[in-house]
Amino acid sequence: MTAHDTPAYPFTRNGACPFAPPSEYERLRESEPVSRVRLHDGREAWLFTRYEDIREVLGNPASSAETLRGGFPFLSPADSVAKRAQSFQRWDDPRHAERRRMLMPHFTIKRVERMRPRVRGMIGHYYDRMVEAGPPADLVESLALAVPSTVACELLGVDYEDHVFFESRFAVRLDRSATAEQVRKVTTELTEYVDRVVRSKYGKQNDDLIGRFVNEHVETGDVTHEDAVTDAVLLLLAGHETTANMIALGTLVLLEHPDQLARIQRDKSLVPQAVEELLRYLTISQTMGVRMAKDDFEVAGCPVRSGDALIVPVAAANWDGSVFPEPERFDVTRAEARGHVTFGYGTHGCLGQPLARMELAEVFSTVFDRLPGLRTGIPLDQVDFKSDAVFYGVRSLPVTWDDEAARAAAAGRAQERTGTRKATDQR
Ligand code: HEM
Repeated sequence: MTAHDTPAYPFTRNGACPFAPPSEYERLRESEPVSRVRLHDGREAWLFTRYEDIREVLGNPASSAETLRGGFPFLSPADSVAKRAQSFQRWDDPRHAERRRMLMPHFTIKRVERMRPRVRGMIGHYYDRMVEAGPPADLVESLALAVPSTVACELLGVDYEDHVFFESRFAVRLDRSATAEQVRKVTTELTEYVDRVVRSKYGKQNDDLIGRFVNEHVETGDVTHEDAVTDAVLLLLAGHETTANMIALGTLVLLEHPDQLARIQRDKSLVPQAVEELLRYLTISQTMGVRMAKDDFEVAGCPVRSGDALIVPVAAANWDGSVFPEPERFDVTRAEARGHVTFGYGTHGCLGQPLARMELAEVFSTVFDRLPGLRTGIPLDQVDFKSDAVFYGVRSLPVTWDDEAARAAAAGRAQERTGTRKATDQR
C-alpha cells in the first residue's frame, strides 16, 4: 500500500444505519485487522479493529496516554489543544494511578447507590416540568442534558445556574470541526470559571467532591491548585456530555426498536441489561482511543516500536462479530453485552461508569411511563446527529407524547403522594 492510498483517520459513521460505527472498521477487521491509517498531519498510525487486540493495547503499560510526551499523535490541530489541557487522564502510571486513587472513593458503587434516590427525584422533577409545559419538547434540552448536568453539578459542588455557560463551552471543546483557536478560547474560559469554583472551597468544611478534594488534598499540599482545576474541568465535562448523549440516543434507539422497548416495558428487571446493550450498540466515544507506544511490543504479530502512534477505537471492538454475534442486531437480552469496552479498558477505564449506569437505568426505566406514547416529532433521516464530535449524540431531538395520559398519570401520582403523606401523619 502506498502513502497515497493509506486511509485517512478518523472515519465517520457512513452506513445506512445512523447508529452503526464507520463501516471501514468491519472491512479492515476482516481484511487487515492491524492496518495503517494517515492522520491529519500526514503522520501514519497503527489502527487496531479486533476486540482482543484493542484490549491488549489499552491494557499494555507500554501504551502511553501522556499527551505532553513528544510525538503524541493528535487527530486534528484542535484535538492537540484540547488534549494538552493536562488532567490526570493524560498522565501515565504511577502518577496517574495515585491521582485516580484520590478520586475513586467518590465513584464507588456504594456511593453511587446512596445518590440514587436523589437522582430519581431530579429525573421526576424534569418529567413534571415537561408534562406541565405539554408536548412538543426537545428531549435533549428538557431531559437528556438537564439530568446529568444537574447530577454532575450537585456531585462536584458547581452552581447549576451556570449550566448554559459551561455546556456551550464544552460543546465547542468536543466539536471536531472547531478550530484550534476556538478550542483554546473555550478552554481558557472554562479553566477560569473552574478556578473560581475551586477557590471558593478553601477554608471551609465542604461535602461536595471538589470541596472535599480541596480539603483533603490541596489544602494539605498533596496536589497543586492548578492540578485540582484541570481535574475538576475533566470531571465536569465527563460527568454530563457523555451521559446526556446516551440518554438522547438511547431513547431514539428504543423508539426505533418497538419490540425491544416492549420487552423492557413488560419486564423492568431487563433495564440494566438493556443499558449495557445500548452502551455497546451506540459506543458514543468516537475518537477517544489514541495512545503512543513508549516501548517496543508486539500485538497480534504486529511489531509496535517505541514512538508509534496507536489508534484503538472502542466502537470497532464493540462491533466485533466474533465476540458480539450479529453486532448490528440491537438485543436488550444480549448476554455478552456487558463485555463491551465503551468505558475504555485498562488503567484509564472510565471512573464515572457506576454513576453513568445508574443514571441511564433510572431514565430508561421511567421515561416511557412518565411520557406515555412518547415518539419522535421528525423522521429518523432528519435527526441532527453529532457525527463530528468526540462523543456521538444528537444536537436536538424533537419529541411528542400523549398529553392527556401524561397529565392523568402525573395527577394520579400526586394524589398517591398526598395519600401516603396523610397515612404517615395519622400514624
Ligand atoms: C455513558 C457515559 C460515559 C462514557 C461512554 C464514558 C467513556 C469513557 C471512556 C471511553 C474513558 C477512557 C478514555 C481513555 O482511555 O482515554 C473514560 C474515562 C473517564 N471518564 Fe468516562 N464516560 C462516561 C461517563 C462518565 C461520568 C459520568 C464521569 C464522571 C462524573 C466520567 C469520568 C471519567 C474520568 C474521570 C475518566 C478518566 C479516567 C482515567 O484516566 O483514569 N465518565 N470515560
